[in-house]
Amino acid sequence: MGDEWPTDLARPTLLVTCPRGWEAEARQELRGLLPGAEVRSLFIPGNIIATLEGNLADALRALAGAETLTIARVTPVRLRMEIGPEREWPAKMAGAARHLPPPDLRRSFKVACNRRGKHDFSTRDIVPALADALVTAAGPPVDLENPEQVLSVEIFQDLAFMGLNPVERLLHRRLRRMRRWAPGERPISRAELKLREAIKRFELSLPPDGRALDLGAAPGGWTRVLAEHMAQVVAVDPGELDERVLALPNVTHLRGRTEDLRPEEIGRFDAITNDMNLEPTESAALMVALASLLRPGGLAVMTVKFVTRHRGRHVREAIEVLETAWEDIRVGRMPHNAKETTAVMRRRA
Ligand SMILES: C[S@@+](CC[C@H](N)C(=O)[O-])C[C@H]1O[C@@H](n2cnc3c(N)ncnc32)[C@H](O)[C@@H]1O
Repeated sequence: MGDEWPTDLARPTLLVTCPRGWEAEARQELRGLLPGAEVRSLFIPGNIIATLEGNLADALRALAGAETLTIARVTPVRLRMEIGPEREWPAKMAGAARHLPPPDLRRSFKVACNRRGKHDFSTRDIVPALADALVTAAGPPVDLENPEQVLSVEIFQDLAFMGLNPVERLLHRRLRRMRRWAPGERPISRAELKLREAIKRFELSLPPDGRALDLGAAPGGWTRVLAEHMAQVVAVDPGELDERVLALPNVTHLRGRTEDLRPEEIGRFDAITNDMNLEPTESAALMVALASLLRPGGLAVMTVKFVTRHRGRHVREAIEVLETAWEDIRVGRMPHNAKETTAVMRRRA
């Protein structure tokens, strides 16, 4: 069965890790260092995939010589396969590994596996299965301490990548811990940056004398941004707001779920924002239910959360729901969006 995967990646591909939360900067650095490469974040934070335009050796040379702040580990990979959580998958992966270019039989090797996600098998099931797939009577010898080549297996829940590389090709940097913010300027959350970026990108104008309703507000990054621009913000979330946000005189926290709001008790708004961790069609349905709280033509910002990796489908389905009450819907990925994208819209007149 293991032979049925046409898993060769068509172009040289690198898996890159960076510190969690620094994906946007790492992608930017990679695009600068690898002209023409297609660079995107994987579903699991801190992991990026770069599909190269040029050849692998040039790319690795550029990365090895770079003064990078964010690029920690670089692993060239040759195979990509979709896997399941069941116990038979290590054997199937071993079948697929036989499609890799053969190892140098004279140079020692080891299998290195990083498994993220939940599976019925463990890393200890994968390593021997893959080692067996490569070792023949003629070699290569296994050396767990100082291998000369490494079969890297990188698993991201239902996606697996594999690459067999001489150790010289694997880049591994210990990054300095970086201070990002001057004292007092630290954002409340990464989310705060997403709203600042959306305001700029979509040229949103928030009326200074207006009221905003912020759904899924905790810990309060968006609330703080809204409170800087508008007269009053009603923040809705069962979670706590940061004390810096609670202390703002124009913020009211309604501690609870959006579904439990009583529209007749909270008045009218000039903007609605929604960063709730919800399945996109559920989140969009709440936006439709609350649209009448907004003055006609008022604007809304909503994050479409990619709760699975079918990103396009989530965006399409959310828009379909939103269109019943909202128009002029525009969607764009902000640099600080993680597994999500940002939609802005106006209430139908
Ligand atoms: C990504 S966080 C929001 C971050 C926030 N925008 C900020 O800038 O700090 C998502 C929030 O959605 C809230 N949430 C999820 N479901 C919700 C619901 N049904 N009603 C209200 N809040 C909800 C969670 O409690 C969580 O605090």
